[in-house]
Amino acid sequence: MSETTTAKGLADPAARRQLMSGVEPEPGSSKPDPILKVDNIVRQFGGITAVDVDHLEVQRGIITALIGPNGAGKTTFFNLITGFDRPTSAGRGAHWSFDGATLDRTSASKVAKSGMVRTFQLTKALSRMTVMDNMMLGAQNQAGENLAKCLIKPFWSAQEKQVEEKALALLDRFSLLEKRKDYAGSLSGGQRKLLEMARALMSDPKMIMLDEPMAGVNPALTQSLLGHIQSLRDEGTTVLFVEHDMHVVRHISDWVVVMAEGKLVAEGPADSVMSNTAVIDAYLGAHHDTDLGDDALLSDATLEQLEAEVAAEEAEREEEQRS
Ligand SMILES: Nc1ncnc2c1ncn2[C@@H]1O[C@H](COP(=O)(O)OP(=O)(O)OP(=O)(O)O)[C@@H](O)[C@H]1O
Ligand SMILES: [Mg+2]
Repeated sequence: MSETTTAKGLADPAARRQLMSGVEPEPGSSKPDPILKVDNIVRQFGGITAVDVDHLEVQRGIITALIGPNGAGKTTFFNLITGFDRPTSAGRGAHWSFDGATLDRTSASKVAKSGMVRTFQLTKALSRMTVMDNMMLGAQNQAGENLAKCLIKPFWSAQEKQVEEKALALLDRFSLLEKRKDYAGSLSGGQRKLLEMARALMSDPKMIMLDEPMAGVNPALTQSLLGHIQSLRDEGTTVLFVEHDMHVVRHISDWVVVMAEGKLVAEGPADSVMSNTAVIDAYLGAHHDTDLGDDALLSDATLEQLEAEVAAEEAEREEEQRS
């Protein structure tokens, strides 16, 4: 097993996952190499406490699922830590940091620049812009943002070209290349989800946060989305995603964090967390008819086939790079 480390942590994804084997399956447990640390985040809306998280650490370079019944506070938690909302506990012990930098009072755009980007439960692809323009919006640190550099046209053009090439490569990766001139509004729900993810990747994030990336996506696209999420992790990007489909959660998560009524109620590897009584109670309390594994969207055989396809594609890509 390779012990090589990169800026994104251990180079070998299996070695990164292995690091979690000694982690306590307890809410708020310490992680060996946390990229995100959150303390005392409370958000109230009138009389409702939407989020009340004492402590959470998210491990670098793995896929963490954030699950919980409807209204548990998952989206509000995403909004808070990415600067789209402010905690009620601001100034009263609320503290969170990403890759060593404090984010407590950081604006959403600065959070994104620090390397933590998120997608939305309802897609925010700008429908009256083309797919390509949406991608270009996702780019950051472009020379064009800097007035001084903007005046040096050759530099600006070179940068613009690079950004464009990157956008095209990402669109290709997400099977959206042919749609690049179409309005985002003309895409299917699933394609918009892919566009949101591709756009988020324009800024080379250290961590990508996906809020229900599979919602409204047809089964064929779901499978390719899952493959994309796994390859991002394998390339070293940390993934934190909210998902209701337990088959998806079980299949791709290296670690699962469970929220209910704003609080963390459980954490652990996917296999064991769903049998935790606190988790069962939380789900049954919210939905008496919820069967925690009853979703025929993805059979294990289909997923295995998908994994084989992704591996074959990767091998092919590597072969191409070598030749
Ligand atoms: N802007 C708001 N104003 C008032 N209440 C809100 C607001 N946003 C969220 N809430 C409430 O906060 C609680 C948590 O909502 P949130 O959307 O974070 O849950 P969730 O876990 O993302 O749910 P779902 O799985 O349905 O997306 C809910 O009771 C919700 O009604
Ligand atoms: Mg939500």
